[in-house]
Amino acid sequence: MNAQLLDFVVHGDHDGKLVALEEHEDIPFDVRRVYYIWGNSPDVCRGKHAHDKLEQIIICVSGSCDFILDDGNERKTVHLDTPSRGLYIKHDIWREFTNFSEDCVLVVLASEHYKESDYTRNYHDFLRKCTNEK
Ligand code: TYD
Repeated sequence: MNAQLLDFVVHGDHDGKLVALEEHEDIPFDVRRVYYIWGNSPDVCRGKHAHDKLEQIIICVSGSCDFILDDGNERKTVHLDTPSRGLYIKHDIWREFTNFSEDCVLVVLASEHYKESDYTRNYHDFLRKCTNEK
């Protein structure tokens, strides 16, 4: 599947912790956009789309949530609950995210500016694309 967890180097000790992310060192693409997501009700389901080109790293800097990832063949759930880890999702992965803790804050690093034409928002269209690309 075009998705993996990245473990970041954590600096610091009992005084506190710090993670530093450098383009092309820790982040494998040019970072063209950063956005963050918070204030979600626990049972809301966000995402429900795939991207043609966009790559993203999603970091749960506070709280926790679940990412459901689907490549048209396989579906898996990734639980995010630490700022020391990033979920790297490349193109052509359907994603849904849910099960938000009250304090959940997600920071997303993205390889492209926001472009609606890069989105596939209908699951059947996504499956059709997966089949055509085989
Ligand atoms: P959307 O992609 O639907 O959110 P999610 O997949 O997290 O549920 O985006 C929600 C709204 O925010 C939508 O109106 C588009 C807008 N938006 C931007 O303007 N820029 C961005 O970088 C993103 C991610 C969304």
